[in-house]
Amino acid sequence: MIIQPAKKLHGKLSLPGDKSISHRAAMFAALATGETQIENFASSADCAATLNCLENLGVEITRAGSSVKIKGVGKIGFEPPTVALDCENSGTTVRLLSGILAGQNFTSELNGDESLKKRPMRRVIEPLEKMGAKIESASFFLPMIINGKHPLKPVEYVLPVASAQVKSCILLAGLFATGKTTISFKQSAVRNLKPEIGMMRDHTERMLNWFGVKLKETLVADEDGFFIHQTSIEGTTAKLVANGSLNIPSDISSAAFFLVAAACLSDSQLTLENVGLNPTRTAILDVLENCGVKIEKSDEREVCNEPVGNLTVYGSIKPAPTTVKAVILQGGQIPGLIDELPVLAVLGTQLEGGLTIRDASELRVKESDRIAATVENLQRMGAIVEEFPDGLRVEKSTLRGAQIETYGDHRIAMAFAVAGLFAVGNTKIMDADCVKVSFPEFFDSLKKVCE
Ligand code: S3P
Repeated sequence: MIIQPAKKLHGKLSLPGDKSISHRAAMFAALATGETQIENFASSADCAATLNCLENLGVEITRAGSSVKIKGVGKIGFEPPTVALDCENSGTTVRLLSGILAGQNFTSELNGDESLKKRPMRRVIEPLEKMGAKIESASFFLPMIINGKHPLKPVEYVLPVASAQVKSCILLAGLFATGKTTISFKQSAVRNLKPEIGMMRDHTERMLNWFGVKLKETLVADEDGFFIHQTSIEGTTAKLVANGSLNIPSDISSAAFFLVAAACLSDSQLTLENVGLNPTRTAILDVLENCGVKIEKSDEREVCNEPVGNLTVYGSIKPAPTTVKAVILQGGQIPGLIDELPVLAVLGTQLEGGLTIRDASELRVKESDRIAATVENLQRMGAIVEEFPDGLRVEKSTLRGAQIETYGDHRIAMAFAVAGLFAVGNTKIMDADCVKVSFPEFFDSLKKVCE
């Protein structure tokens, strides 16, 4: 895909449904009794992989564009699969599904593409084995054979890594345990930050609630000044019940590419409709606003337990605001920005003081090593950038068009398509088709609003 420089982004867009929420909608609707109609289901290939896996577990699914109807089978109504479940490129599919499969009385195999086979599964295997499932794997990598057990043992588990996928996996396994399962984590690794800032996304908790499962959340300050966040879920007695139709908000992580692009092209004015504004996902808006970007929210409302609204962003980075000296993203901020970090590094090239990312070594085990891929491609475009084990530092730089190596990673492709809009000369995105993993319509949508 060739990206030409643009003057501005202008107009209105409705982006596809949120990927994280769509995975959960499909899985939880399947776990429920009754039928759920899901609207604005993500067009992402990852979410299609989740639907395919559920079909291979005997769930009846009817798809019509972005509408998906799911006939719930209840918590233990799945059929033993006759094939390995192919999670393709999707970490959320494999990690959440493994929590559900651990509590079934049958054996199932989970597999994925070359990228997913390189991603760490020990983080789910260890807690699930503590709960009584037996899991065979190739040294904690896919393929993974889950010998499920019903019921499981409840656990009190301290999350070793700030991962919403792991947290969700254990909560889902908790639904099959003989008592209460509790997960705790240090909410923020940076002291004195607002509690919300260190939060991992909480779509699982909100949607379990929507399906009638009560969770208990507590927040206690420990003597070191950290917040210990605990979430408890009841076990086998918890039941999910269909609750009418589920509307999925548009994905703020997809919106992020347009927000950054519009912010960096003066005279832009772009409205994104029906965007998910869950506070565990909106840190990108705070970062942009702190850089002097004007973003207006309108029509804010709550839909199916998730906050939603329209966003209008104005091109405002150029001329770069002199008040912003340097942006540092670190510590408790990172989980809330995890999927936006590549495009924020691109934003950093347009900021007077540049931008630093630290405490983000999790980026190295995403769909690609996103620290290495971001650094390499920034360098290809002529930016001055330094790589750290847990992040990077980029200086204000004039970008020139280059050939971008995406490593098959959708967010790298989209982040550098954005960079191409304010580079000198054309940018060539290799393997650009990988955007289908989260946002198949990305290049078409970009074309629509670029002037
Ligand atoms: C996701 C959580 C994040 C995120 C991923 C989706 C989820 O991963 O990067 O795109 O749906 O829970 P981790 O929780 O592993 O950081």
